[in-house]
Amino acid sequence: MWPGDRPLSEILNSYSSAAPLAEASTLSGDFYTDPRIFHLERTTVFSRSWIAVGHTSEVAQPGQYITCQVGGESVLVVRGEDGILRAFFNVCRHHAAHVLTQPCGRVDRLKCPYHGWIYRLDGTFQSAPELHGTHHFDPLQNGLVPVAVDTWEKFVFVHLDPNPKPLHSFLGGLVQSVAPLNFSRLHFYERRSWDIACNWKVFVDNYLDGGYHIPFLHQGLSAILPFKSYTIETFDRVCLQKSPIDPSGGDAITVGVRRGEAQYYWLYPNLMLNWYQGYLDTNLVIPLSENRMRVVFDFYFEDTSPAAEERNRTSMAVSERIQDEDHAICESVQRNLSSRAYGAGRLIARREAGEHLFHRLLVADLRAALTARAHLPIAPSNADG
Ligand code: FES
Ligand SMILES: [Fe+2]
Repeated sequence: MWPGDRPLSEILNSYSSAAPLAEASTLSGDFYTDPRIFHLERTTVFSRSWIAVGHTSEVAQPGQYITCQVGGESVLVVRGEDGILRAFFNVCRHHAAHVLTQPCGRVDRLKCPYHGWIYRLDGTFQSAPELHGTHHFDPLQNGLVPVAVDTWEKFVFVHLDPNPKPLHSFLGGLVQSVAPLNFSRLHFYERRSWDIACNWKVFVDNYLDGGYHIPFLHQGLSAILPFKSYTIETFDRVCLQKSPIDPSGGDAITVGVRRGEAQYYWLYPNLMLNWYQGYLDTNLVIPLSENRMRVVFDFYFEDTSPAAEERNRTSMAVSERIQDEDHAICESVQRNLSSRAYGAGRLIARREAGEHLFHRLLVADLRAALTARAHLPIAPSNADG
């Protein structure tokens, strides 16, 4: 069978959502390689979830903005003169150019670079060159199209659905669980991103395997995370993996920058929060195609003074080494997911509860979309008169 020959419904039905963890398998290889699944995810998973797009200190002042890609759409988030945070499709109402073209910055109005249409920071239409002589132009019909936006802790989220459920109910138990970690003590330090030749779900699966790969892939990390003490907990749209840190077996560099307890949170579909005492990094997983993705790391530290510079740089270097190990294996997995020798693999019950949750949430979203599509009214064709 050629790629794309298998009906989408058959691919979705190949996954048994009812199977308990002890009986469960992964998603089949097609989920990670078929471009139709990638497109379906854009219109479902990434269009019906709150998606993290940045951190609040990037949009703290009036006129500060960020631009981002969500579900294949370009979105801008900007703080208004009135202090209100708003988001819009970054699509000019004239001929659809990107209104803002930089990842972030500060402006006093939103000016399209193509023909100079101007929108106020609240998204309303302000002016267009040579508008005289154009009849029945309604400024109210030509503002930027809004997108839902909200914040939680240090993070900015958007939702493409015009009437989403509130962010806090989407986050569920995550809000309570994270509160004691006191993120307000941490300060943004640096952003780094990596492009990886794999489906975004390969990266998420790797994150959610409950430490199963750590002794084999990450020798440095393994020495300080006792394999047997590692715990995995799932609730709502969240997986929390925890481990005490045992400095006795670790190398001096790793032990010097990792203290207390490791807490790794994943929020469906694509956000990870990795916390150690005095340290946080967030990983935002952005799908680019069925076999390419970008992961954006934001590093936060409690102490960002010059005195802590060397320690913070070392900490990021430790994280980068672990990333390199993960990225290589993710690319290797992606190459084999389309092998004729592979269908789906068994989950390991002790470790892979997070993947089990992820796969069930994802397949539920995809199935809902296919069902909705099947019930769309059929438009009358012109040939029928
Ligand atoms: S496309 Fe923006 S002004 Fe023409
Ligand atoms: Fe890893």
